[in-house]
Amino acid sequence: MSKPLLIDKYGRQLTYLRLSVTDRCNFRCYYCMPEEGMDFAARQELLSFEELYQLSALFCSLGVNKIRITGGEPFVRAGIIPFLRKLSQIPGLEEITITTNGTLSKKHIQALKEIGIRKINISLDSLDRERFHQITRRDSFEAVYACIFQLLESGFEVKLNCVVAEGKNIQDLVPFVELTKDYPLAVRFLEEMPFNGTETFQTPQWSYRKIYAHLNAHYPVLEQLPNAPSSTSVNYRVPGYEGTFGIIPSFSRTFCGTCNRIRLGATGELRTCLYGPPATNLRDLLRLGFSQEQIEQEILDAVSQREKDGFAAEASHAWHASMSLLGG
Ligand code: GTP
Ligand code: 5AD
Ligand code: SF4
Repeated sequence: MSKPLLIDKYGRQLTYLRLSVTDRCNFRCYYCMPEEGMDFAARQELLSFEELYQLSALFCSLGVNKIRITGGEPFVRAGIIPFLRKLSQIPGLEEITITTNGTLSKKHIQALKEIGIRKINISLDSLDRERFHQITRRDSFEAVYACIFQLLESGFEVKLNCVVAEGKNIQDLVPFVELTKDYPLAVRFLEEMPFNGTETFQTPQWSYRKIYAHLNAHYPVLEQLPNAPSSTSVNYRVPGYEGTFGIIPSFSRTFCGTCNRIRLGATGELRTCLYGPPATNLRDLLRLGFSQEQIEQEILDAVSQREKDGFAAEASHAWHASMSLLGG
């Protein structure tokens, strides 16, 4: 008998798993965590690589065909490369992608290529060393910038994620677009979301409309590009430029209607929406000895209860975790 697919009651099929492999990070971006006092999970609370593999294979048997590896910072977890190699063998898995802060080494780049990974997204919020330091609380701009070009030279498709915020990086928006003049980069500007690991958050001043208006004032002629199905970003090209830029309404949540994403957090929490509470904890079920069929049923139940959009999901709980635990 063929396996069921992950289809919610609004007819959306979930084919894209975002897998957070650790909540730890070597940066402290203001929009993700406080500078000090982060309460990271103990090692035994994290899904082991074996558990991550088993659950990934189960998701793929239910129709998932793309897995994005997230964190925290995925490359701070020892053993990540052998894990990715094993993951890449899962039947039905067409694509593995990674979101990283760009502090991965050259050695990793070579290994990723050999595994068959082709697409990497890098978080980069400023092209200025000082502002980068202020945003990430680490003085690592040069290393990240160099990594982007090493990846391009090695043939990777690279996207840059830039969280836009007043008082932080507005001066960088046009320079980011200028970077797409000669390089085949996809820069994406994001609205800030309320996942900084603290209670304080104000509605972002820079909505997707304001970001667009700012860039359109500088570049009066923009080509709008066709959108891939379930894309988070609306994408544009300055005529004649090599690369593209996009805007992700991550706080305005205009793309929920076509959302194909499901999330497994580093400690096993399963979320059917970034803004919602965990539906269940798959680590606990595995460790309690639930069978594959029982875990599959829990996943199907979670999907059947999936909310219509990020606003409905958010309404059902009051607390927002740190992005490092949610995996973005
Ligand atoms: P591609 O697979 O390359 O399209 O990337 P992606 O946009 O799926 O992943 P990435 O990790 O680069 O995330 C970009 C930004 O979009 C991050 O800030 C994510 O948190 C945000 N994002 C991704 N999925 C969702 C979602 O379902 N809802 C919301 N609100 N934001 C999302
Ligand atoms: N708001 C918006 N984007 C965020 N990211 C992390 N925290 C936030 C936040 N609070 C982005 C990072 C990373 C992606 C997975 O999520 O830039 O690229
Ligand atoms: Fe680390 Fe990414 Fe969070 Fe920044 S946003 S602290 S790079 S996990």
